[in-house]
Amino acid sequence: MKFARMTLAALMIAAGLATGLRAETVPLSSLDLKQMTTGWSEAKAGLGVAGHPLSIAGRKYADGVGTHARSEFRLGLGGKGRQFVAQVGVDDSAGGRGSVEFLVLGDGRVLWASGLMTGGQAAKPAAVDLEGVKTLELRVTDGDDGESDDHADWADARIEMKDGAGGPVTLAPHETITLATLSLAVALQVGEDGRIYQQPVSRAAAPAKLVRDDEFYPQAGDGYVWEPALQVVHADGNTSTTLVFSGVTQTNETADITVTRIGLHDPAYPFNVALCFRTHRDEDVIEQWTEIRHAEPGAVTLQRVESSSLLLAGDVYLTHFFGDWAKEMLSPITELVTPGTKVLDSKLGVRASQFNNPSFILSLGGKAGETNGTVLAGSLAWSGSFECEFDDNGAGVRALCGINPFASARTLPAGAEFVTPTMLWVWSTNGLGDMSRKFHRWARDFGVRDGHTPRQVLLNNWEATGFDFDFDRIAGLYEPAKEIGTELFLLDDGWFGNKYPRVNDRAGLGDWQPNRKRLPNGLEPLAAAAVKRGLRFGIWMEPEMVNPQSELFDRHPDWAIRQPKRNLDLQRHQLVLDLTRPAVQEYEWGVIRGILGVPGISYAKWDCNRYLTQPGSTYLGPAGQSELWVDYVEALYALMDKTARTFPNTELMLCSGGGGRADYGALKYFHEFWPSDNTDPTLRVPMQWDYSYFFPVMALASHVTHWGNRPMHFACSVAMSARFGMDLDLTKLPAQDKAICTGAIQAYKEIRDVTQLGDLYRLEDPHANFRGALDFVTPDRSRAVVFAFQLKDGPDTPVHPQGLDPERRYTIRELNPAPGRAPLAQAGQSLTGAELMAEGVTPSCAHAVEASVIELGPVVTSTAAR
Ligand code: GLA
Repeated sequence: MKFARMTLAALMIAAGLATGLRAETVPLSSLDLKQMTTGWSEAKAGLGVAGHPLSIAGRKYADGVGTHARSEFRLGLGGKGRQFVAQVGVDDSAGGRGSVEFLVLGDGRVLWASGLMTGGQAAKPAAVDLEGVKTLELRVTDGDDGESDDHADWADARIEMKDGAGGPVTLAPHETITLATLSLAVALQVGEDGRIYQQPVSRAAAPAKLVRDDEFYPQAGDGYVWEPALQVVHADGNTSTTLVFSGVTQTNETADITVTRIGLHDPAYPFNVALCFRTHRDEDVIEQWTEIRHAEPGAVTLQRVESSSLLLAGDVYLTHFFGDWAKEMLSPITELVTPGTKVLDSKLGVRASQFNNPSFILSLGGKAGETNGTVLAGSLAWSGSFECEFDDNGAGVRALCGINPFASARTLPAGAEFVTPTMLWVWSTNGLGDMSRKFHRWARDFGVRDGHTPRQVLLNNWEATGFDFDFDRIAGLYEPAKEIGTELFLLDDGWFGNKYPRVNDRAGLGDWQPNRKRLPNGLEPLAAAAVKRGLRFGIWMEPEMVNPQSELFDRHPDWAIRQPKRNLDLQRHQLVLDLTRPAVQEYEWGVIRGILGVPGISYAKWDCNRYLTQPGSTYLGPAGQSELWVDYVEALYALMDKTARTFPNTELMLCSGGGGRADYGALKYFHEFWPSDNTDPTLRVPMQWDYSYFFPVMALASHVTHWGNRPMHFACSVAMSARFGMDLDLTKLPAQDKAICTGAIQAYKEIRDVTQLGDLYRLEDPHANFRGALDFVTPDRSRAVVFAFQLKDGPDTPVHPQGLDPERRYTIRELNPAPGRAPLAQAGQSLTGAELMAEGVTPSCAHAVEASVIELGPVVTSTAAR
């Protein structure tokens, strides 16, 4: 019977091919069903998988294919198919049991889905248009509850081909999946064993080796001996997992963005993993995360779930950034990854980047430079404890990045879903500069809020008044703030607490009522006075914290994260509130809503001045302590998300005792972050350079202060190169400094669209040189700004800008020149981009702590040309 049908179909196809004339209707049963995978037995032509006639809800079908979940059949149509039709359902041989879903995919996209179908349910008709489809895939899932009794029928199934097109070609069931951007292609292959293997990313692509070492997302406990991406204890105590391919879908979100979801399952358990990717084609960015669900009879324990575990080949150099409070990102280290495991991590719970950093750079095949080399930057979007491991087994390096598994096993009940944070990968074969520009473009679109709006000039009272102020002192700062040109006033710490006034950092956190002595009428009149004077008003808050000396702690000592039977381990005299507790979530939301709801407040600095050292929760109970690390961050993100949604017009600065939370997990709810409490501009030059590998300068708050006692012109020039702010007592500023500040603010307003919306070129590395230099170029290359920051006395050699239009002429102008210094020799000249890039511009500075900011602008008059 089967033979006869196949022969008939072959004849039909052959006839079509030979004459090139007729449309063909090809029964599915006529094709080579050996290529159809099944979870049990084998696919059968004209029969159900159990060998009985095809039968769905009592109705018999003479033709069709009986199969068993999970099943997959791939057919090449070459774009010549017209329609696929079938009646689908669970075969009656399952005895009324079984649950499956039938999927028809075209080129990886779901064209038709039956929805969940169960035993005894009437057949559903499928009629799927195949116009343009090159690869047709027929898939039967197990309905996410395991494969037993999943007898599935494609009854009366046939493929109609276009006139004279010939028949479909059966393809091998295993496929190749490519995660592609403009210049990166991560190639994955489904092996004969159903596992997914990765061709390691390298400068010269090596052929894929289908060996366990090259598994894309390796699992613990079933043969893999290196650091696994997934480690799970199943409901029955089994500590091993095996993941095989269930299917892939690719969906275009826009012309630039494709979402790929690779489904994996454990053949022995109803345990499903989706490896998910959002590829940004033009930016060469891949966002990757993992989703887990299961239908096991009890809870599963997740011990380790990586966001990503990418394989790399050849020499891999890791650049990572170590720091500490006031020294954030200041120690870049580049090293060859050698056999063994290099770990960068945080166990701080509420801060990712205090010491190590969840952002790093991998250079492949040799150390990369700004304009040369193959680089892959990585950044984990997570503000809690993280772990990035670089595991070299002698044959290659695996970069495993995700939530730190340290003490944080999670219980996943059946039906619930666990989603990891997103890992960001950014690729370039043209060096660090190109990588960063792509990263910045992605960040302006997706990484920070309002990424296409240049930031305003901020004045903060912190360095000016510290905790020592009242209404009049603050209101007295508005006039000079306005005079000098600032646009936004930020009132920092010290405005709240009554029983325990916040007059220093020992008391008051948690009691967010304005201090009646300092601000007898609350915040509103202070905000109103600022707005009246033409300034926006912002406020400092640290909603996550509590001082033991506070009314909140008096009332709720159990709301703090702490360990019973241990002495309180205070940092800056404070504790972290336990956000896993719903009452705390509600309280903190009330605090935020109360503060940001005050009329006139349009900016807030959200601080976090300690991390977890005694990670205990009285809410989670004895069995739930390991959930604290992730539950805290998820609750925090929920709060941040609600804040951003409820107050869409309130600008937010992310601060964490300086730069402890410089990560894209929290940043997406914020407009900027505070890179460091250290505002000494000689250190800000290298620090901001390092941050700029990953973050656009519009997100880097850079304030002029007296830290380091550097010349005002130098301090202002450094702040102008990022998001400009000031922490100065303007009432005490000498006239000359005031003039410099006024000039800098004016210049910043002229160039902020260039620096914040344009492309950054890092020109001279301040870590290695007597000066640091940068330039920014508008996307249309009509304007550019060059910054030179002299850190030591040095030769007055030219700075060579990059990224200019070689043909275009630019007029050279120094912005806010330093008083008393010889003017820029080339000022007023007009040169072509080619000339400027080849010959350079010589800044007007050659001594330590001098700076020069040079605009390369449109040619104003023809006489200005050389
Ligand atoms: C942290 C911040 C500072 C300042 C103080 C206020 O240290 O980083 O900028 O806001 O808190 O207490």
